[in-house]
Formats: sequence, structure tokens, C-alpha cells
Amino acid sequence: MSPLDELQSKALAELAAIADLKELEAWRVFYLGKKSQLTQTLRGLASLSVDDRRQAGAQANQLKLLLESSFEEKKKTLQQAQLAAARQEYFDVTLAGRPLTLGRLHPVTQTIREIGAIFSGLGFQVVEGPEVEWDRYNFEALNIPPGHPARDMWSTFWMDYKTESGQTPMLLRTHTSPMQPRVMEKTKPPVRVVVPGKVYRYEATDATHESQFHQVEGLAVDEGITLADLKGTLYEFARRFFGSDRKARFRCDYFPFVEPGVEMAIDCWVCKGAGCRLCGNSGWIEILGAGMVHPHVLERVGYDSNKYTGFAFGMGVERMPMLKYGIDDIRHFFANDLRFLRQF
Ligand code: PHE
Repeated sequence: MSPLDELQSKALAELAAIADLKELEAWRVFYLGKKSQLTQTLRGLASLSVDDRRQAGAQANQLKLLLESSFEEKKKTLQQAQLAAARQEYFDVTLAGRPLTLGRLHPVTQTIREIGAIFSGLGFQVVEGPEVEWDRYNFEALNIPPGHPARDMWSTFWMDYKTESGQTPMLLRTHTSPMQPRVMEKTKPPVRVVVPGKVYRYEATDATHESQFHQVEGLAVDEGITLADLKGTLYEFARRFFGSDRKARFRCDYFPFVEPGVEMAIDCWVCKGAGCRLCGNSGWIEILGAGMVHPHVLERVGYDSNKYTGFAFGMGVERMPMLKYGIDDIRHFFANDLRFLRQF
């Protein structure tokens, strides 16, 4: 076998074994590059006699063409394989996505957070307290002694708790107001808190009453707090919660733990005060009870009522989204019907 024949079979055998483009390039440099045996051979032809040159030249050139075309062919094959492999990794961006099933917060939780955020912005701290409560906090500390007729304002779930000294009246809190004395007992003025939580009433259930619902209590005690602070704070709350052009109305109301006591209403945002179904044709919607903290309540927790004054308020939570979204039955909030809950 001539050296060129040997070169040919070696080159083609190696080429066949090549699996990637990098190896292929190394092969090209080795067999077809400037320093390759073949190129050297072609260069050396000049020193041969004319006859030898013709024969050897023809063979070398043929080999060069063969190796070049084999190289091109191999390169094409490898490139196609590479493309096919890359295609395997592709995904079809036009396919519809798989929906993520996301949970959501209960509308009552959403409302409590919204109310809490508004009062946080006004300098109040959010705190929580127990749902099972002593008579002492739910009534007595709030200026409602045993036998006081105002106890009838809250139909109460009672439970009897036995202690060594006998039976101590315990109950499910009928409002969040027991947190007023609880907070004041533990802190010195100034006090600024809002208290969201569950409350219970021993009442028949209907579209506007549930035996369990939520309230947010508010309490601010400091030197020099007046009814104007109460009005300003609650007006600002209504503006942020219900919209910037709401009007507020305060009227007298009675709660044993405030003096004076007020109820706050805002002008109906559906009829703008003209009268409609939502506001029962009055043009006004009541949203909360409030008042200046009664001196008896302050004294009981050891606050000097000559030095400190304060205001308190309590609002029903369910009522807010009911008014905002026109929900006509409070029982929807506790029925756990996903068709209702998913709307919020
Ligand atoms: N606790 C009262 C209620 O549930 C509301 C209220 C709170 C009124 C604070 C005045 C001050 O009816």
C-alpha cells in the first residue's frame, strides 16, 4: 500500500468514529491543515520529475477532494444531530397552562385586615383577647354591675366555672369591649389599640343576626382627648374604608361604659343620601357605636379620670362587606359555600 492509500484508510476510519463537531475540527486540522501530511506531500511535488509529479499529484489531489467532501458530509450529519437534540428540549409555549389552585382569605379576615391596616396608619396597635371571658371584664369593669338592666342589651351565653370559692360567672364575650379594661390594666396611658375578634350572642339566627360574629373594638386614652378626636378619627376611617366623599353623622346613643355615647352613620353611597333599599330609605347607614370612655371605667383600672380621657368604639365586621357588596344575609359568611367565598 502506498503512503497515501494508508493515509486515506486511516483518515476515513477516524472520521467515521467522530461524534461531535469539536473532534471533527481537530480531524480537519490534522488531515487537511497546513501542516498535514497531505499538504506536505502536495508541496513536495515540485521536487519530483515531471512524470512522477503527474502521477503522484493526481493521487494526492484526489485524496484531498475525497477528504474534503467526507469532512463536509460528516459536518452536516453532526449539525443535524445537534439540532434534533436541542429540539427535544423545547417545550411548546403555545400550550395552555395548568391552572394553579390558589387559596384565599375569608372575606371576614380580609375585612379585619383592611380595618386593622387603616387604624395602624392612624397610630393604633392591633391586639387580640380571649373569647371565653369573665363577667368581670365583659360587664362589671364596663360599668354594668350584676342586675343592671343594660345587661339585657346583650343576650349572653353563660357557662359556670367552679372554683374553690364557689361558682364564678364565665361567658362567651358578647362584644370586644372587655378588651378595654384588659388593655388598660396592663398599660399606662397613652393607649391606642384596635381589637378584632369573635363575639357571641344568644339569639335566634336570621338574615341580619348570627349567634357568632366579629367586631373590631377601638380605644384611645390620653391627656386631653375629646369628642372631636373621636369624630375626626372615625370620620377618617370611614373616608378610607368607604370612599373619599362620604359624610358622617353622629347621634346620641346609650352604652353604660361611655358618656356621652354615640352611634355613627355615613351617608348611603348607593343613593347619595336620597333614600334607597340599602339604607332603608333613610339616606344613612349606621356603622358603629362609640363614645367617651366613662370615668368609672377609667377609675376601675387605676387611671386618674381627672387627668385622662379617652374614646372607644365598636363596629360589626360582617356588616362592612355586607354594605359594601350588597350581601343580603349574614349567614353566607359561615355556611362555607365555596361559590360564595370564591367571589372575594
Ligand atoms: N360594645 C358595644 C356593642 O357591642 C359597642 C361599643 C363599643 C359602644 C365601644 C361604645 C363603645 O354594642
